[in-house]
Amino acid sequence: MIGCGYVGLTTAVCLASSGHQVVAVDNNLERIDMLSRGQCTILESELPELLEKCLKNENLKFAVSGTIEFDDIEYLFICLPTPQLDDGSADLSVVFEVLDSLVNLIPRDCVLVMKSTVPIGTGSKILSIYGEVVTSYVSNPEFLREGSAVADYFSPDRIVIGSNRRDCAVQVSLLYSKIQAPIIITDIESAEAIKYASNAFLAIKISFINEIASLCEVSGANIDNVVDGIGSDKRIGKSFLAPGPGWGGSCFPKDTNALVAATRQFGLKAEVVESAISANRSHQRRIIDRITAQFPLGLDGVLVGVLGLTFKAGTDDIRESPAVAIAEALRKLGAIVKAFDPALSAKADSVVWDDFRRSENVHDAVNGTSLIVVLTEWPEFGKIEPSEIVSTIGYPLVFDTRSILDRARWQEAGFTFLSVGHP
Ligand code: UGA
Repeated sequence: MIGCGYVGLTTAVCLASSGHQVVAVDNNLERIDMLSRGQCTILESELPELLEKCLKNENLKFAVSGTIEFDDIEYLFICLPTPQLDDGSADLSVVFEVLDSLVNLIPRDCVLVMKSTVPIGTGSKILSIYGEVVTSYVSNPEFLREGSAVADYFSPDRIVIGSNRRDCAVQVSLLYSKIQAPIIITDIESAEAIKYASNAFLAIKISFINEIASLCEVSGANIDNVVDGIGSDKRIGKSFLAPGPGWGGSCFPKDTNALVAATRQFGLKAEVVESAISANRSHQRRIIDRITAQFPLGLDGVLVGVLGLTFKAGTDDIRESPAVAIAEALRKLGAIVKAFDPALSAKADSVVWDDFRRSENVHDAVNGTSLIVVLTEWPEFGKIEPSEIVSTIGYPLVFDTRSILDRARWQEAGFTFLSVGHP
């Protein structure tokens, strides 16, 4: 396993816990040192326990890049970052640097398995460059969500395997033989496209429901009833229709931009995806506008309590977090932002505390504020007793962007209550 980030580490641990012998490699010495000692480097449910078990059973090892031999490996998994370049396209330089250094070290019959999200055509480019030594190549995109990656690994909706050699695809499918899920064997380009199209479709769904939520706010409809009504149509479904502060994270923004850039390179336009991206931005601006409308004298010097900064609950990831973007916009408008996030507030060294005042708990974050904004759906925020905090705050105004608070209870306690998708 080359790369021990979110995807590499989860895949390595899950493969090892299915009984395979796995060596996971990374060039980050500190990361490898921690993992070798059984310390999980990411916040991911169930992963620490599985990591410990695999290390104890000796079917998982960690090594620093350049320190292991590849002589008898059967599969080489590439789980490297493909970040966004300035033009939106995916930066494949790390992937190709690593392939340059490794392809001559692996056995001829070793299957190269691409887990990184790479643009359509990357597999065939790899085969055209390294075809003399890489004869078995498989695109095996991942569909793991941060926070539930282990559960997603063992209970996926499908496993996608793209290859121009059926025997290689079958060989890779054997790695997942303990998992009950349909296996889709296809060509490399289609597998690469499935990954981008899946993330883009989910992002489109969220942008769409947020747009409908805005319509509900001004027209008197209730988004919960609307989601129930449209989601009951099996062709639509209810998942990924939760309105919120917009989509973010390490994948949707990067992958939608890469899809737009790749489509442009083929001389076409990804108009629907482009609209979903710009609708996501407009949605966040609308949330800011609704907040500023509550403060006719402006936000300068207004104390704001932000609850949640991660891009969603269950993770400590703040990459492209809508919560951070909204909190940052409020700060730029002059507000003094205090924040509490269950996954971040204990980490005094997190970069978010350069911009926001760190609160140790909910009570500290809301104390003395004139506005509370809930930006991440951490379950504990739903347990806040509004009547217990109302006397400690400056002005009782709350904006629940995640529909996690009990509106009636907050209103009874005297709060003006704003939310996404409710009049
Ligand atoms: C996403 C995909 O869901 C995974 O299938 C994929 O493997 C992964 O990207 C990836 O490409 O690696 P993830 O980034 O962990 O997973 O996050 P999601 O759970 O998909 O949420 C993405 C964003 O959409 C978050 O900001 C979340 O709050 C938001 N969201 C999600 C909503 O606003 N409403 C919803 O109904 C669902």
